[in-house]
Amino acid sequence: MGATTSKSLVLEEKNLRNFSGLVKNYRSTSIRAAVFTSLYYQSVAIVAALGIALMCYYGGYEAYIGGIETGLLFMFISYTTMFFEPVLSIARISNQMKQAQVAAERVFNLLNVETEIPDTLEVIEKYGDYDNPKKENWEELNGDVEFKDVSFAYSGTNKTVLKNFNLRVKKGMTVALVGETGAGKSTIVNLLCRFYEPTSGTINIDGRCYKERSVGWLHANLGYVMQTPHLFSGTIKENIRYGNLEASDEEIIAAAKAANAHDFISKLDKGYDTEVGEGGSRLSQGQKQLVSFARAIVADPRILVLDEATSSIDTETEMVIQKAIGNILKGSTSFVIAHRLSTITNADLILVIKDGMLTEKGTHQELLALKGYYYKLYTNQFVEDKMKEMKIVS
Ligand SMILES: Nc1ncnc2c1ncn2[C@@H]1O[C@H](COP(=O)(O)OP(=O)(O)OP(=O)(O)O)[C@@H](O)[C@H]1O
Ligand SMILES: [Mg+2]
Repeated sequence: MGATTSKSLVLEEKNLRNFSGLVKNYRSTSIRAAVFTSLYYQSVAIVAALGIALMCYYGGYEAYIGGIETGLLFMFISYTTMFFEPVLSIARISNQMKQAQVAAERVFNLLNVETEIPDTLEVIEKYGDYDNPKKENWEELNGDVEFKDVSFAYSGTNKTVLKNFNLRVKKGMTVALVGETGAGKSTIVNLLCRFYEPTSGTINIDGRCYKERSVGWLHANLGYVMQTPHLFSGTIKENIRYGNLEASDEEIIAAAKAANAHDFISKLDKGYDTEVGEGGSRLSQGQKQLVSFARAIVADPRILVLDEATSSIDTETEMVIQKAIGNILKGSTSFVIAHRLSTITNADLILVIKDGMLTEKGTHQELLALKGYYYKLYTNQFVEDKMKEMKIVS
């Protein structure tokens, strides 16, 4: 995946050196393993051959002078050969056995990895786990969200990324998060999606701590579109259907239309049956975002999270999509992270995050009236946009 970067920075030679260093160790170990294997096998074979030679020499003499019968000698030699055959086989397969043992250890190490966010036994009993979800017990998710004194530090670090964060969101609201790079916006939505859990404090969904319900329940009701969405190799249709495996072709096309993806898909040679390539490499970044939007829409989530999901899409298309999404997912609660403020002015609530803390909160008009960070950011971007427009016009 990093091949283009390596090549454009002319790092082939350095990478080759690194690679040679790593492979050198593997090479010498492999040679040693091969030497030991052949030594073991050959020494058993030599012992077997020597035994038979000795027997021929000594037994042959005995048979010659009449000490034993020739038949007896012949039988003895064939029995000895038969005895050594399995011993030789063991020598031959012992190397394979060792390799199989190492492979099995790796497989079991992977199987034994603990889930980072495990459900409690009571939760599993009621709501099931990933393999056997008890969907009949899953309550409907309404979409009320509450962060209560949430603090969070990523494991392995002692830097508190989020400090005493409090927020109450009613079902159906659109919440926008703005702030500088590294302020903690993605961390907030990742906590909501339960990719991580708060270090202290609780997150309530529909009035109950989300740990009281299974991770699967939350994820089944969640739509998450990222800045760099992942598409799987396969057709566009398959990728959209990934959001809801039961979706019909009509539903897929309707979702694509809502995401404004239908136009570009129809222009492709094979339309919805076009292969997107490994990781979606045959589509542009913006097209990938449109497809992942359609995928989120088809899933009909109760909570929608857009983490800079429209950053690679032109402003006009972005507006169209936002409107369409607003119509389709009317009842669902959405969290939108955007650097381009023009797209979030209609949000019900805008949060300004700074160093993991909530510094400003309100609607677009309220925040402008506050004349704080948001006001500065907005007016700066507004002036920039206007200047760009003027340049285009002139
Ligand atoms: N997986 C991680 N492990 C440790 N620290 C992390 C991890 N992810 C993010 N951080 C740290 O948490 C802080 C907040 O990161 P976050 O991704 O929430 O920022 P952000 O507001 O989304 O920024 P951006 O606008 O650039 O996306 C940063 O200082 C970052 O270094
Ligand atoms: Mg982010």
